[in-house]
Amino acid sequence: MTKETILSGIQPSGKLHIGNYLGSLKNFLALQHQHQCFFMVADYHSITESYDPTKKQEQIIELMSDFLAAGLDPKKCVLVAQSHVPEHTELAWIFDSVTPISFLERMTQYKDKAGRQIENINTGLFTYPILQAADILMYHATAVPVGIDQDQHLELTREIARFFNNRFGKTFAEPKTLHTETSKVMSLLEPTKKMSKSLGDNHCIYLSDEPEAIRQKFSRAVSDSGDATSPGGQNLLLLAKIFCAKTDYRRFSDASQAGKLSYGELKPV
Ligand code: ADP
Ligand code: TRP
Repeated sequence: MTKETILSGIQPSGKLHIGNYLGSLKNFLALQHQHQCFFMVADYHSITESYDPTKKQEQIIELMSDFLAAGLDPKKCVLVAQSHVPEHTELAWIFDSVTPISFLERMTQYKDKAGRQIENINTGLFTYPILQAADILMYHATAVPVGIDQDQHLELTREIARFFNNRFGKTFAEPKTLHTETSKVMSLLEPTKKMSKSLGDNHCIYLSDEPEAIRQKFSRAVSDSGDATSPGGQNLLLLAKIFCAKTDYRRFSDASQAGKLSYGELKPV
């Protein structure tokens, strides 16, 4: 097996949810044993969204603690606080001047977030993927573990590497994207959208939720048509596959294939 250089990051903008864990962190844990890994708290990225300045320090430390608690081992991987390494923003500035604006205008995450925070459509939100490209390319990362929602940013990172190499000579390798088996967990309340802390607490199961809170959130989870083939039902079935006993999951899955599973049956598990 060839040894890869891995880099990934998560924004310190609140508690981690099972989407972050299954789409991202779970992969980090396995990768640290086999490859050279850098895992980053993307604090500069997180200030592009509206936030409370009195809470940011705490959120950065909380996310670093979550990394450690989940099992990232500083003897096996490098844990980076983005704003402590000025080269991230320096390289981003250089990449700004090789990246056409039209490439940024295509980014769906920018359009989504701009739509959600119309009172704060700042320039950082727009150039966000360029800083992400700098995070990745400055470590000469060969692979980046992220959820599916980051695919477009990774494609742009490869394009930026190409733009730079064409102008200045071969400098950066194009990194590949690594997905986990579960690279998209959907919101409990709006199952056509990905589970995201920005949608609100009841959309997410947080790693730190107490069992009673988890039960309550599942009991409120919605499904358009009330059956297991709806997006909500499919999402619950996926979570049952990961978190339920194998025998329970097999029963649900067989019933679903036979068209006999009512989605409500998944909730009390
Ligand atoms: P959020 O949308 O909750 O703010 P982040 O953007 O901080 O989450 O995402 C951190 C990491 O977790 C990224 O690699 C992202 O792809 C992954 N991730 C986020 N939400 C999900 C989800 N619902 N399903 C799978 N992976 C996700
Ligand atoms: N944009 C990523 C997210 O929202 C976070 C991130 C910042 C990142 N820099 C990165 C992910 C570099 C992978 C590599 O999830």
